[in-house]
Amino acid sequence: MRLSVFYSSVLLLVSTTLPAAPTVAAVPAALTLCQSCHQPDGSGNAALQAPALAAQQQDYLLRQLQHFQSGLRGAHPQDAVGAQMRAALPTDLSAEDLTALAGHFAALPAPAKATQAADAVQVDKGRRIYINSCGACHGAKAEGVVALKAPSLRQLDAVYLQRQLEYFRTGVRGSDKNDKPGRQMAMMARTLQSEQDVAQVIAYIGSLP
Ligand code: HEC
Ligand code: HEC
Repeated sequence: MRLSVFYSSVLLLVSTTLPAAPTVAAVPAALTLCQSCHQPDGSGNAALQAPALAAQQQDYLLRQLQHFQSGLRGAHPQDAVGAQMRAALPTDLSAEDLTALAGHFAALPAPAKATQAADAVQVDKGRRIYINSCGACHGAKAEGVVALKAPSLRQLDAVYLQRQLEYFRTGVRGSDKNDKPGRQMAMMARTLQSEQDVAQVIAYIGSLP
């Protein structure tokens, strides 16, 4: 009797003093910081210019985090918004931490889409541009194509899309020789001839479910 009490208290002691087994993909505590701008459900926050991350490809999110960390994104003198994200990223996050954060947001369900009032003519013109110049990489429904490193676009808000297309067109994003996917996209963004083309293709992407 006494012995068994002794053993169970030893067991209790062991189980309370042993550190928890390391979890490989533990999401770092920095997640709460990310959530303060991108929201716990990953739906983004337009007022803070923070885009939706939920349901985006893990590979794409990870690449962007690595690019923010290395300065391939967010370090251009004209990229004030990217600089905010770059400054917000704790510098001590490891590759595993970034992978876990990317995986966390990628696994969240796609955010509900705000219905946008759109001009049917604009949407139709945008559809043609999209089919001719974008769909081959980003997919027929803007769902993204992992093999081409082309992210999903349909969950992104119009203001964010507009800013990124502007960044790609003007070389703020995707001009570094070490940023191959960004350079590819920058080339495509320059096929958009006018602000009107940009507005139309964004209207089309916004109309997708
Ligand atoms: C202070 C607010 C803020 C915080 C905190 C923040 N972000 Fe951001 N994040 C932004 C903004 C703003 C952008 C958009 C940058 C742009 O438009 O170029 C962004 C962009 C991103 C992108 C690029 C998305 C895309 O579609 O290309 C990723 C990925 C990202 N953030 C992940 C994170 C993670 C993970 C954390 C936590 C470690 C985090 N962010 C913390 C504001 C923030
Ligand atoms: C040749 C393939 C290709 C084509 C065609 C293409 N894209 Fe892209 N796009 C990419 C790749 C690759 C990326 C990821 C760039 C990176 O990793 O930084 C990207 C990224 C983007 C982003 C940034 C998304 C984000 O979350 O920040 C937007 C917006 C975008 N593309 C819109 C378009 C539009 C609109 C068109 C048509 C005019 C288009 N793309 C045509 C390959 C393509």
